[in-house]
Amino acid sequence: MKDRFVAAIDQGTTSSRCIIFDQGGAVVAVDQREHRQIFPKPGWVEHDATEIWAKVQAVVAGALARAGLRAEQLSALGITNQRETTVLWDRATGKPVHNAIVWQDTRTSALCAELGGADGQDRFRDTTGLPLASYFSGPKAAWLLDNVPGLRTRAERGEIAFGTIDSWLIWNLTGGTDGGVHVTDVTNASRTMLMGLETLEWDRTILAAMNVPEVMLPRIRSSAEVYGTAVGPLRGVPVASALGDQQAAVFGQACYETGTAKNTYGTGSFLLLNTGERPVPSKSGLVTTVGYKIGDQAPVYCLEGSIAITGALVQWFRDQLGIIRSAAEIETLAASVEDNGGAYIVPAFSGLYAPYWRSDARGVVTGLTRYVTKAHLARAVLEATSWQTREVVDAMYQDSGVRITSLKVDGGMTVNGLLMQHQADVLGVPVIRPKVSETTCLGAAYAAGLATGVWSGLDELKAHWRRDVEWVPRMAAQVREREYGNWRKAVERSFGWEE
Ligand code: G3P
Repeated sequence: MKDRFVAAIDQGTTSSRCIIFDQGGAVVAVDQREHRQIFPKPGWVEHDATEIWAKVQAVVAGALARAGLRAEQLSALGITNQRETTVLWDRATGKPVHNAIVWQDTRTSALCAELGGADGQDRFRDTTGLPLASYFSGPKAAWLLDNVPGLRTRAERGEIAFGTIDSWLIWNLTGGTDGGVHVTDVTNASRTMLMGLETLEWDRTILAAMNVPEVMLPRIRSSAEVYGTAVGPLRGVPVASALGDQQAAVFGQACYETGTAKNTYGTGSFLLLNTGERPVPSKSGLVTTVGYKIGDQAPVYCLEGSIAITGALVQWFRDQLGIIRSAAEIETLAASVEDNGGAYIVPAFSGLYAPYWRSDARGVVTGLTRYVTKAHLARAVLEATSWQTREVVDAMYQDSGVRITSLKVDGGMTVNGLLMQHQADVLGVPVIRPKVSETTCLGAAYAAGLATGVWSGLDELKAHWRRDVEWVPRMAAQVREREYGNWRKAVERSFGWEE
């Protein structure tokens, strides 16, 4: 049988990658490029969408060259992307009307408070599964319409297109101003706060409340179907999947059964639990989101614990404090001491997301004595990731009644064995990393391959999954609960800071 190849583009917060997979789900070639982070004011984060499109084209060409393949040898192309980041562009020129507003950007905090009014943060939660927070895309689009001169009138005339990064890439890949298709998938749409979780359609009541004209929105499609055919260097390749990056990791980790969960450790960490074909509302500070939808099959929903800062705290320790020279050094430094020496760091750099959703939280270090060294602080940096994860796992149990029995992990920080051991210790369950840790790209490739007949179904994909390392819990329960209590006291101290 002739081997078949599927390419996936992962357009992330700091870089764009393209990975080509073979039919066994193994990586054939990878290419990656970073793009600029633009910080116009404290709390504001922007990307240049034109630069992102150029980097994406470059990594696709790079991956094909490394694989020694031509575009016509690809059976399909899948897309996965940083979620919530918002682009508005001119349909006639194909040019963005403003830099993209990135998910981490906090400029819409006041707008969100105003939209909540007397109903507060949960005004749209029943319909969308989300609290009103600066994280999500709808208010970012509203901010642009209110702040870019003349934009609202042009948008109402149908001249402007809205998209998350998936829409922007698919539109460009399929021809842009020359007939590009304007679509998004249900997972990305579920992060806009404009889509009904059950209807999977734009919600007109919310559009009216946020003053976002429907004419600018993409059509909502499933996560695995052929949206169109690429033009340009990828001419003829079916563009056949789109999933937000965290949902793609769920798919790549083969979390297809209700009760299975994964945590991806990147800039932030995002723990998603598959809750099956019905959305489970959260009362404990999680978000309800679409996990995936394959063609015309029923959608699968997830509960998500979104943590804004995990890996970014290691970068801060390296770049802002200069205590380590490389991210890898933190493990050696942390391993030079037995424990955290009593110190805890709560990295509430842009407030706290799940399960608190507090925009008034700021970072704190607690438990300092003269005994504490930089090595203890290095431990506290790593432990901040595992304690934040423990909090969202507890919230998941409260919301769903599902007690996870193990946690599948992926992402850059999973190379850190000390952290993974601490994660298993504080959760009290095994933590398991798969052989192919590129689960985000793999999930997008799987979905595109399902849509084009490369793979037969979920059972075949599940059979590809292989365990690499498993960390089993070793910490005594009473130590774990005492330290968890200290962590929660530290979190309390992060609340209530003025702008
Ligand atoms: O919701 C934000 C998330 O999609 C960002 O992921 O991996 O690009 O930092 P990442």
